Amino acid sequence: MSKRVALIRGDGIGPEIAAATVRAVDATGADIEWAEAQAGAGAFVSLGELVPESTLELIEACDCALKGPLMTPVGKGYRSPNVALRQHFDLYANVRPARSVEGVKTRFDGVNLVVIRENTEGLYSGVEHWIPPNRSAAEAVAVVTRFGSERICRFAFEHARREGFDKVTVFHKANILKMTSGLFLEVAREVAADYSEIELDDLIIDNACMQMVTRPEQFQVIVTTNLFGDIVSDLAAGLIGGLGMTGSANLGASNGMFEAVHGTAPDIAGKGIANPTALMFSACMMLSYLGFDAESRRLRAGLLSVLAAGESVTGDLGGTASTRDFTDAVVAAVAE
Ligand code: NAI
Repeated sequence: MSKRVALIRGDGIGPEIAAATVRAVDATGADIEWAEAQAGAGAFVSLGELVPESTLELIEACDCALKGPLMTPVGKGYRSPNVALRQHFDLYANVRPARSVEGVKTRFDGVNLVVIRENTEGLYSGVEHWIPPNRSAAEAVAVVTRFGSERICRFAFEHARREGFDKVTVFHKANILKMTSGLFLEVAREVAADYSEIELDDLIIDNACMQMVTRPEQFQVIVTTNLFGDIVSDLAAGLIGGLGMTGSANLGASNGMFEAVHGTAPDIAGKGIANPTALMFSACMMLSYLGFDAESRRLRAGLLSVLAAGESVTGDLGGTASTRDFTDAVVAAVAE
């Protein structure tokens, strides 16, 4: 059945990697109708808003969104369009797989983990203020609810079950943050009772970071609160070759937004040398979400084979290929 995807090409290298990814997805034969939407600096210039109402309406009407990186204008009063989109659609689960890729040199082999970050609460709930007089102090409030903790922990266990993982590890700081982190851990233990085939483990966040950079192969599904998740998901990306290799999904009850985790790379924008791998991996997740499982596997296999061969990779991976050369190779591999 045909699916409709809102395509936000984004800023900087966004249009280049988005065009490459659309070609690669179309090469899988997935029946997708692309619907163009605008957000970010480009939308601000042409429509006067970072996230125009028309974009929200279009995403609402589509099955999901694929998004290139967006630039937030520097200055007071500009809210990140990425955060605005996640909050508007209540995309509470940020999912970032980190799997070792053959042909991409790193210090580790055999990493196969996924970080599932709570995307709406914690220290990023937006409650932050100055203390008078004269801004002598500042406070930020970490909001952790039973509702928010339960839905993300359940999401993590469901993900583990669906993807064939048999361990979920909670990263927390319940020894110090006894109520906020404590509640998250307590709820994780309650949820785990419904998944007897999956082991629940937990680690204090500082030890967890040390374990990730020494023995990352011990982790499968990691679930954690917003701030810890933000940090450890980048750490996880570093284990497998960096942000340029990492796709991500932001998922809610009824919508999904798939994006590369790197930024707009203004230093190389328009030069035709950007690496579209991260957005292509995000597109693999999108295809699975839409029910195009075979097409997702085909795109992933094509991408992995081009990366493993190493002949048509872009400069950031040590090659000399342009975005177009790399994409041609992926499209050819997908067609095989
Ligand atoms: P960045 O990720 O854009 O760039 C960091 C470095 O990595 C640069 O040298 C860049 O050339 C390189 N790089 C990034 N992606 C690449 C790719 N696909 N292929 C080859 N090289 C790549 O981070 P930076 O410079 O901190 O941010 C630039 C802009 O991006 C800022 O306006 C920021 O707000 C925005 N941004 C947007 C994000 C999003 O929309 N999800 C996420 C992060 C940053």
